[in-house]
Amino acid sequence: MRAVKTLGLLGTGVIGAGWAARALHFGIDVVAADVKPGMEAWLRAAVANAEPALARLTLAPLPPKGALSFTTSLATMATRADFIQENIPEQLELKQRMLAEVSREAAPDVIIASSTSGLTPTDLQRDMRAPERFCVAHPFNPVYLLPLVELVGGQQTSQQTIDAAKVFFTYIGMHPLQVRREVPGHLTDRLQEALWREILHLVNDGVATTGELDESIIYGPGLRWAGMGTNLIYHLAGGETGMRHMLAQFGPCLKWPWTKLEAPELTETLIDRMVEGTQAQAAGRSIRELERLRDDYLVTIQQVLREHDIGAGSTLRALEARLYADAARDEAPEPASVGQPLRVLGTYVRPEWIDYNGHMSESRYLQVFGDAMDALYRRVARMFYTVESHLVHMAEARVNEPLEVTTQVLALDDQRLHVFHRLYRTSDSTMLATAEQMHLHVDTANRKAAPIHGAVRTRLGQLSSAHANLPVPPEAGRHVGPRVQ
Ligand SMILES: NC(=O)c1ccc[n+]([C@@H]2O[C@H](COP(=O)([O-])OP(=O)(O)OC[C@H]3O[C@@H](n4cnc5c(N)ncnc54)[C@H](O)[C@@H]3O)[C@@H](O)[C@H]2O)c1
Repeated sequence: MRAVKTLGLLGTGVIGAGWAARALHFGIDVVAADVKPGMEAWLRAAVANAEPALARLTLAPLPPKGALSFTTSLATMATRADFIQENIPEQLELKQRMLAEVSREAAPDVIIASSTSGLTPTDLQRDMRAPERFCVAHPFNPVYLLPLVELVGGQQTSQQTIDAAKVFFTYIGMHPLQVRREVPGHLTDRLQEALWREILHLVNDGVATTGELDESIIYGPGLRWAGMGTNLIYHLAGGETGMRHMLAQFGPCLKWPWTKLEAPELTETLIDRMVEGTQAQAAGRSIRELERLRDDYLVTIQQVLREHDIGAGSTLRALEARLYADAARDEAPEPASVGQPLRVLGTYVRPEWIDYNGHMSESRYLQVFGDAMDALYRRVARMFYTVESHLVHMAEARVNEPLEVTTQVLALDDQRLHVFHRLYRTSDSTMLATAEQMHLHVDTANRKAAPIHGAVRTRLGQLSSAHANLPVPPEAGRHVGPRVQ
């Protein structure tokens, strides 16, 4: 299958726009097609709206953003794309017809995937040319932040298609989950539907409001679900003997009337209750406002999960490892910084970094310098520990200001790397702080100091030589208070 440089989208509603935002962010060009010309403005606004949250997801170096173009011509899109994702309304006949048309325009090695929430791939690929390159790739809203994509093959789908789709979706930061056998609703929507039908019953029967039912999730199971799914959580519920005990204890409940599953009739009364309930929960906040809140916490949750290397946090870790590896590979062996400190990090003052004074909290300076050093380590090696830091604060950093850090190598010997970082406000080049640090090379297997050798030594040696004639910064070698004799 071909390398994916351009993603083609058919249908640019909520899901199409989500795909566009994600792909563009990770450097893939997007050519988007929709029957309605007015969707271009909508698409561009939706992509711009996704950007603030996406930009906060990771500090890892990103490739230049992809370019977005829009067309009302399916053929133009299909002939330019290396991978096509269909996101038109959930109607079998419409999708069959459009997928068949796309397949006649696109080269036969272009994968065509459908975002369908529940239609099965065998039905969808029926009239396609080269149907073996078709699969379902079912994402979740917001596509630009949620990593899950369910991959489902139909009777005519080849495993190479699924494998190539996995490679592409992993590249844009997702977690492809291959569904073993096609079933209506795939996996996740079947689970969501079961909960949803039960919710409708409980509201219909007047047992609870929409708000109370949401409380029953967000204060409890919802928190657990982000890191472990129902099965592993229930394994823990069984105590030392896990799932076996859990089934023995709660097995009888399976015969009790705890669920209905058949959906209730969607009467006007039930619809009113659902609408009024959710309007009360929104409490006057617009959909856009609620989306921003949702996006913000989705980013933060993934960053927390990354610390635990679990679930979506593991996906984020793997994405970052790939981004750092790509950035290191793309760099010339001799960093392009002869005679000037190396720019190692660009970031900005995040709202949660602000203290009661409205300035960046003290601990965040160390974090930013730590992130800068981390960025450098990832370029050369990761086997260094920080053994000493000296920070000098010079000017205030306020919320949302763009920052950048440069690094100068002061000295390098067999085991130690002595560096000097400068933190700037990017907008006016004001120096905000400096940090002088000593880093010790370690053998990570036995966690002891060890000589720097091989390619790491070469790369650091090159950087050190490039900085050899730079003046020693006046803040270097400083101490706090009167010098102790
Ligand atoms: N909304 C969700 O939460 C969600 C989640 C996962 C998957 N999906 C699936 O994604 C697909 C799209 O859903 P959505 O919510 O984005 O719908 P949507 O109504 O927001 O967008 C559909 C878009 O397709 C366009 N369109 C219709 N016919 C077309 C055609 N012949 N050619 C080109 N464009 C055409 C429409 O103009 C519209 O812009 C559906 O299959 C849905 O099941 C939706």
